[in-house]
Amino acid sequence: MMAATATLPPLLLLVLLLAAVPAPSHGWGVDGHLMVCQIAQARGRLSGAAAAAVKDLLPSYAGNNLSSLCSWADDVKFRYPWSSPLHYIDTPDGLCSYTYDRDCKDEDGVKGRCVAGAINNYTSQLLTYGRPSSSVPEYNLTQALLFLSHFVGDIHQPLHVGFTSDRGGNTIDVHWYTRKTVLHHVWDASIIQTAEDDFYGDGVADFIDTLTKNITGVWSEQVPSWEECGKNQTACPDIYASESITAACDWAYKGVDEDSTLQDAYFSSRLPVVNLRLAQGGVRLAATLNRIFG
Ligand code: ADE
Ligand code: ZN
Ligand code: ZN
Repeated sequence: MMAATATLPPLLLLVLLLAAVPAPSHGWGVDGHLMVCQIAQARGRLSGAAAAAVKDLLPSYAGNNLSSLCSWADDVKFRYPWSSPLHYIDTPDGLCSYTYDRDCKDEDGVKGRCVAGAINNYTSQLLTYGRPSSSVPEYNLTQALLFLSHFVGDIHQPLHVGFTSDRGGNTIDVHWYTRKTVLHHVWDASIIQTAEDDFYGDGVADFIDTLTKNITGVWSEQVPSWEECGKNQTACPDIYASESITAACDWAYKGVDEDSTLQDAYFSSRLPVVNLRLAQGGVRLAATLNRIFG
């Protein structure tokens, strides 16, 4: 190694080193967010009013396509550093439970600064759409829509509601087959990527097609229960967060130690959980937008 690196120009060496370190991530990868948004926007899932409002709020260059901007919130976390803690929830180590009052805070203890609080906040901003009023501030509702669509995806990633000390698996080093990574990234991206490589010859579109068919097929009897939210509630992030920490304990963390090698057995037993969470994210994003826009 020394002999080889000594001959490389320092800048190239730095680039190679940076490329080898997994970047900390803030949600499903691009494909995961694309799937959630595309499922939400799939034919017939949005009401006429919700589809019209989405079209109105999207920037014209996006056309009618929400999914092209579903990773926007990840792209702006450096421009808007305040938005970083809004992508996840840290829960007490080993408890496998979530409550809003105890857990929805940032690292400085500021209440409401977590993904569940963000979903509530952007939902109430979007409820002002079409109801201009001099007593409420004018929000940027385009940004509110993009944040909400992204965060409904994030809250369904089990490790986005993970343990505090390991930062949702970000500090747990593992091998995914032969590659070095962290457990968090396995759930953000690697399981999805391996499924695309192994099963979906035409890539992510094929994957979305399968999930969409299951929503109207094998999952159709459960779908109404996914969409449920309290009588007078518009958004239900606490339900999704509780499910995520339960799945994190039952599936993501289970059997994994520092330096574990995860391969076929882990992949095939966890892929159904990832499929379910992506589908639920998409169905619930649509249901939430339908409740918001009436
Ligand atoms: N940073 C700290 N906790 C995290 C989590 N659960 N997911 C993503 N980033 C985090
Ligand atoms: Zn995110
Ligand atoms: Zn993530």
